[in-house]
Amino acid sequence: MNNIAILCSGGDVSGMNPAIKHFVEYSLQKGLTPYFIYDGYEGLIDGSIKKASYQDVAGIITRGGTIIGSARSQRFKDASYRKQAKDNLDKYNIDKLVILGGDGSFKGMDIFYKEHATAFCGIPSTIDNDINKTNYCLGVDTALNVIKNAIDSIRDTASSFKRAFVIETMGRECGYLALASYLTSGAEMCLIPEIPYNLQAFEQSFIGQIQNGRRYFIAIVAEGVKQDSQEIAKWFEETIGIESRVSILGHIQRGGNPSVYDRLMAYKFITYAIDGLLQNKQESVVCFNESGFNYESIEEVVKPYKLDEKLLSCLMENQNVQA
Ligand code: F6P
Repeated sequence: MNNIAILCSGGDVSGMNPAIKHFVEYSLQKGLTPYFIYDGYEGLIDGSIKKASYQDVAGIITRGGTIIGSARSQRFKDASYRKQAKDNLDKYNIDKLVILGGDGSFKGMDIFYKEHATAFCGIPSTIDNDINKTNYCLGVDTALNVIKNAIDSIRDTASSFKRAFVIETMGRECGYLALASYLTSGAEMCLIPEIPYNLQAFEQSFIGQIQNGRRYFIAIVAEGVKQDSQEIAKWFEETIGIESRVSILGHIQRGGNPSVYDRLMAYKFITYAIDGLLQNKQESVVCFNESGFNYESIEEVVKPYKLDEKLLSCLMENQNVQA
């Protein structure tokens, strides 16, 4: 069969649309007929499937989000709905799938493969950058640039007003976005779930810095940190003695015009995914690390993700962390 489909599952990322565009173009180039599955596994179950053409993807490369929608599906955990999904694929003679999503989405697809033998290739797509075996997930660079712009703007107002700002980034249980933003924005503090911290360890230094003329502080806090951002702001006010504000960046981190890097990575991820399926790889995920692009098994990809040790040690050294 020559029919191949793409779907997005889980949190959308900026970079999905460039991936969808290249999916259509590269499939056609390779003699395959491309299909869209709308709204993730929900659409697969409900049969929201449509043949795709060049016209569908014209002009989408600049847009964040995904023109085919995404969803987190509870129903796909149920075998009877997965059977319904398989029947829908059969109606369109689709036997190859490209899945843009996170490890949970790949796990679901792996169960589907074991039951129904539909070949698939995953492309790690989450701003959290928390997938094992890949150093990069689609959407991360755009999210980091959104965060960078936000921090740069906040610095302007923080310095004008002599204030501390606690800036909360997304990432679920993973501190990657917070850590990479800290290392690239000149912030004074970074708290992430991977490293235990003790606010007391900052007190002497921060109070001393104010006495020496420091006008403001920028603290970046990952959403997975147990202590909430308001409590950290209170600590700045009550213990450090500086007026403070909280800025929760929230879902703006997921949107926006895809960066050049994400457009390029989307292009490469899709090329590898389709090539892999054409080489008869049945259940794999395209990963990107020191050795370049490679295909990893689901077993490896779903293992717990660990933040880069070198980045972690930079943070620990900079902050002289004492748990
Ligand atoms: O996984 C991506 C992510 O943006 C996380 O960083 C965040 O915790 C979560 O999704 C938010 O989910 P929702 O869009 O369902 O609120």
